[in-house]
Amino acid sequence: HTDEDRAQGTVALGVYIGYFKAAGGLKFAFCLLSSLLLERLTYLGADWWLTRWIQASDGGGGTFGLGSVDNQTSNNNYLGVYILWVLGNSIFALLRMLVFSFGAASAAARLFRDMARAVFRSPMRFFETTPLGRITNRFSYDTEVLDFGILEKLNGTIASSFWLMSSVTVIIAVQPIMSGVICIVLFLYYKLQLYYRKTSVQIQRLDSISRSPIQAHFAETLQGAVTIRSFENQTDFTNVMMSHIDSNARAVLAYSAASRWLGVRLETLGALVTAATGLLCWIYRDQISGELTGLALLWSFNFTISLNFLVNKSTEAESKMNSAERMLHYSRLPPEASLEDPKDAPERSNRWPPEGKVEFQDVVMSYADSLSPVLKGCTFTALPGEKIGVVGRTGAGKSTLAVALFRLRELTSGRILIDGVDISKLGLSSVRGEGICIIPQAPVLFSGTLRYNLDPFDVHEDAVLWRALKSVGMSELIRALPGELNALVEEGGSNFSVGQRQLICVVRAIIRQPRVLVVDEATASVDPQTDQVVQNALRTEFKATTQLTIAHRLQTIVDSDKVLVMDNGRVAEFGTPADLLEKKEGGVFASLVNATGRESAEHLKSQAGQRR
Ligand SMILES: Nc1ncnc2c1ncn2[C@@H]1O[C@H](COP(=O)(O)OP(=O)(O)OP(=O)(O)O)[C@@H](O)[C@H]1O
Ligand SMILES: [Mg+2]
Repeated sequence: HTDEDRAQGTVALGVYIGYFKAAGGLKFAFCLLSSLLLERLTYLGADWWLTRWIQASDGGGGTFGLGSVDNQTSNNNYLGVYILWVLGNSIFALLRMLVFSFGAASAAARLFRDMARAVFRSPMRFFETTPLGRITNRFSYDTEVLDFGILEKLNGTIASSFWLMSSVTVIIAVQPIMSGVICIVLFLYYKLQLYYRKTSVQIQRLDSISRSPIQAHFAETLQGAVTIRSFENQTDFTNVMMSHIDSNARAVLAYSAASRWLGVRLETLGALVTAATGLLCWIYRDQISGELTGLALLWSFNFTISLNFLVNKSTEAESKMNSAERMLHYSRLPPEASLEDPKDAPERSNRWPPEGKVEFQDVVMSYADSLSPVLKGCTFTALPGEKIGVVGRTGAGKSTLAVALFRLRELTSGRILIDGVDISKLGLSSVRGEGICIIPQAPVLFSGTLRYNLDPFDVHEDAVLWRALKSVGMSELIRALPGELNALVEEGGSNFSVGQRQLICVVRAIIRQPRVLVVDEATASVDPQTDQVVQNALRTEFKATTQLTIAHRLQTIVDSDKVLVMDNGRVAEFGTPADLLEKKEGGVFASLVNATGRESAEHLKSQAGQRR
């Protein structure tokens, strides 16, 4: 099951409460209700005044000390009061709209903020298991609905329900017998809208769910355009897109059909109400004055219109509320551990850790509670400043060591100590701070300036950046770019070659001068020169840094202080390269070296003695 189809049936009350809370809570509700009530009262007042006026001009009794209308002055007086009623009504209507608009805007902003915060604080697992299109959808479609769509529908719902109440009041006041008819009609309406609502909300959900694949497919196609073209696969991708669009269009069409279905029934019921009112007024024509008959007929039209409006707007509002539901759900995603250090933790400078000693103690970790462990009890110690080469078959759990170290996933059991401190007791920003750094398997660059990519928090001077660039031989290249350090990096760093991206990641680490550095060697081959530059930089620029180098080529790590051989989530061997090579039979590292062929094995062995 996925959370996209999690919500079924009608939208829960909790969603409305959540939305109104975000709109401003009780204060908002009070302002809205009072402006609505006053608006309705003044509207009714104006109509009521009109009947008085007509009565007075027919020679009937006066109201409020304004006598019967027998001359121009008193007529003007009636007109004046009428204008006051209408003016009051306009002011309160404006007020209501203002209250509502500000409330909706603040709800949209608040939900967006909460959602963004929650998504950014979500653990890695969330991003691995949630399709990107779905997240994009929340931040685009759902956000747009809350920004624009929902206000009109909610406002319509509330306004029409008040409108409805006033028309019921007027009709019953004039013609009490109508209350029976109104009860029956209201019941029928209720039944109809219940039936319609279930369908319509579900169809709207289908609509928004079927949008995600369109967006996802679009993004994927765009990204893979080169591959698609080179395999001449355009037709397939176009067809998939078409079928995604078709399934979305089906939902949209069904939605239109359902509203037509409802429309026909509502109009028929409405006509019945007006007919019944007319009939009753005709039957009791001797007991009811002409003015009141007019009022009753007018409001029976109003009754129908407002009821139709109410059913339409409330269903639409409800389906728009889907978006609020989805955003609320995302704003309540379970977060990772706290970023800040707990209060009782020892004071840490931003240069933590001071030494860089890394201890893994019987570390067991799985990627999800439902999955079996990937690290199955790893124990080793990296002393401050030691260079450790990590080798092992693909899938042995080498990269997972880094996942555990940066706490992208919490351990099932065991501990990781850095300089004697159990890192699970720290805030995440300590573990992922300046002091501990990774050069990942796939180099990651962000769109922005080069400076932002090298020093995202803007804490280092330009001279530091230039020195670091120089040490990997990139300063010439960067000086040639327009804007130099402010040169633009395109999305994913696509305006740099893979090797250059790798170098930029190395530069990023050099600038930070971490105490602990994890290097996950790129599997995608980088040209030999670049590789040499990277290796040299790693050797010369991080002398005091504890280094864990995950290597795919033995050449990279054969001269390191120690070698850690991972096998199926366990530490198979750990020791100096020379010691491991001396093991006669059954030495995993030795057999790995031998497997490279006689000549290269000799070469590697001769290098194993020489420490860096
Ligand atoms: N995000 C993930 N979710 C679930 N399982 C994962 C995830 N990443 C890795 N694994 C599993 O964990 C095991 C170890 O993976 P890991 O990436 O640590 O291997 P590795 O030694 O780095 O391999 P390689 O040499 O190919 O980089 C593998 O069996 C893999 O299937
Ligand atoms: Mg790996």
